[in-house]
Amino acid sequence: MVKKKILITGVSGLVGSVLAVALKDEYEVTGVDLENSIYVPTIKADCTILENIMPAFSGIDMVIDLASNPDQYSKWEVIHDINLKCTSNVLEAAKECGVKRVIFASSNHATGMHEFDWPYSQIIEGDYAGLKSNQIPLISTDMPVRPDGPYGIAKVFGEAAGKFYSDQYGLSSLSVRIGTLNAEGKPINHRQFATLISHSDLVQLFRKCIQAPLTLKYGIYYGVSNNKWRFWDIKNSESDIGYKPQDNAEIWR
Ligand SMILES: NC(=O)c1ccc[n+]([C@@H]2O[C@H](COP(=O)([O-])OP(=O)(O)OC[C@H]3O[C@@H](n4cnc5c(N)ncnc54)[C@H](O)[C@@H]3O)[C@@H](O)[C@H]2O)c1
Repeated sequence: MVKKKILITGVSGLVGSVLAVALKDEYEVTGVDLENSIYVPTIKADCTILENIMPAFSGIDMVIDLASNPDQYSKWEVIHDINLKCTSNVLEAAKECGVKRVIFASSNHATGMHEFDWPYSQIIEGDYAGLKSNQIPLISTDMPVRPDGPYGIAKVFGEAAGKFYSDQYGLSSLSVRIGTLNAEGKPINHRQFATLISHSDLVQLFRKCIQAPLTLKYGIYYGVSNNKWRFWDIKNSESDIGYKPQDNAEIWR
């Protein structure tokens, strides 16, 4: 059987490396990044320059779009120059080259302002007094966005731009609001007991995004493991694409 051709932008970073290693036998995986990936063939190019990345998109079925500056505290200038340009160029290149689906690495920071409100403010401090984990009101992807800074706003931009490319050009556009994927694969502070996504749950979620029928034109999914103190709703990830996280950060308590 012919393998699907998957291009990962930002392939050489943390998320990209986890995905490249896990998906490279099942799919024909290539990358585009400023740095070479040690795992898959990579075109070294800057995603802020459209013409430089176009060759990487030729003949590609689906794109996993990770290339960005991942610093949540970045100032507007950096977000303008890097994040917004990377995101819009990837969508444009995908459209021009007939790519069928773009899976965009959005972020929990698209709705990060909730964390200043109770009970989330208490949970991220690791203070569970008076709380029942199964009674926490969950934040869902159909609630209004609440970005917590320019980085989060750029992720909302990516989700909205994906919707436009879907409506206007028929591109399938899925966004994953990644919680916390760290190198350790386990919580390293109080907040991560709520927000962690394990490496294997991340791989499952992106694999489900690849496998979902192309009739699914648009979706936004929280990327989080089945943590006891999770406060993001993942019901639509299960109903739309069959994501069933297997891990729970609580085992590291
Ligand atoms: N790790 C997390 O917990 C997390 C959470 C939410 C969202 N995300 C998003 O996932 C994506 C990947 O994050 P990560 O943690 O792997 O970060 P990372 O810094 O490890 O990887 C980012 C990669 O993108 C590349 N890159 C940056 N600018 C580029 C450009 N102009 N052109 C081409 N390549 C470029 C970098 O060289 C790097 O290899 C980012 O978009 C980030 O915002 C990550």
